[in-house]
Amino acid sequence: MRTDRWKPLYSQYLRLRNAVRLLPFRIFGSAERFARGYAGRFVVHRYQVTYPHLPPAWDGVTITHLSDLHLGPCFRPELHLPPVLEACERLNSDIIAITGDFVDFDTTWLAAALPALRTMRAPLGVFGCLGNHDAYEEIRTVRAGLRSWLGPRLLVNSGMVLRRDGQALGIVGEAMGTVRSHEAHFRAMRRRWPSDCLFIIGLAHNPSAFPWMQQNDVALTLAGHTHGGQVSLTRAPEPVIGWASFKFRFSRGWYTRGDSRMYVSCGIGQSVPIRINCPPEIAHIRLLRGPAAGPPGAGDEPCGNGVC
Ligand SMILES: [Fe+2]
Repeated sequence: MRTDRWKPLYSQYLRLRNAVRLLPFRIFGSAERFARGYAGRFVVHRYQVTYPHLPPAWDGVTITHLSDLHLGPCFRPELHLPPVLEACERLNSDIIAITGDFVDFDTTWLAAALPALRTMRAPLGVFGCLGNHDAYEEIRTVRAGLRSWLGPRLLVNSGMVLRRDGQALGIVGEAMGTVRSHEAHFRAMRRRWPSDCLFIIGLAHNPSAFPWMQQNDVALTLAGHTHGGQVSLTRAPEPVIGWASFKFRFSRGWYTRGDSRMYVSCGIGQSVPIRINCPPEIAHIRLLRGPAAGPPGAGDEPCGNGVC
């Protein structure tokens, strides 16, 4: 794990890297101006995914999946957030899951967004896990802000069991998925899990967590982090052909290992305001009980894509 000693230096490096990335936008105007064009422009991908072992009481449960808000100059609380909140309300899912990177370097953006974020509602709750950007600076401030909003549903190597007609559905969240010790914490938590909870949804910011999520009986992993590379030769949600396909093992869309599946979101926000064939997205996922219908993306094609 990165030590606190190196953290300020690492933060400086990331700030510098981001400044270099934003340089072209500074030359032609400002990153904020380019980012303004993405306000209210996002795609809702709808999926149905079947599992033989989904408890009958949970047949049809719906999840709205958001990732990578990057609250900051390129995803502003007063401009970009309201249309996303409206879309979440219209989708009216049972669960809202947000897989990390709430903030972008500066924690004051989170404080500004919290009153609006608190209006986000789902019958079974809004759940979240942390991302790498949430940990770069002032992790305690970010965590305290998110705790004040999500309470125990901020899942940091922790989980909750929901029950419907006595049947259990678990939701777990890991802390960033980039460090092996997180896996050890996760395994320890898994050992304490109620034995009747056979279906688990996992929130992981980094999709590299998928193999050990699968090994720990997580049926559906939701992840983000990659932003799909933001630039691809192929249109979302098809697999990325771009730099992200070289950098990340799991870059965008659906992946399968055994009975376990993962969805990697392109994210709803961004640090750098450019996206080609990789629009900001919200995923709406309906879980159904039934025979596994082949690899997601083939047997579980989107049941309708469109601008919300
Ligand atoms: Fe991100």
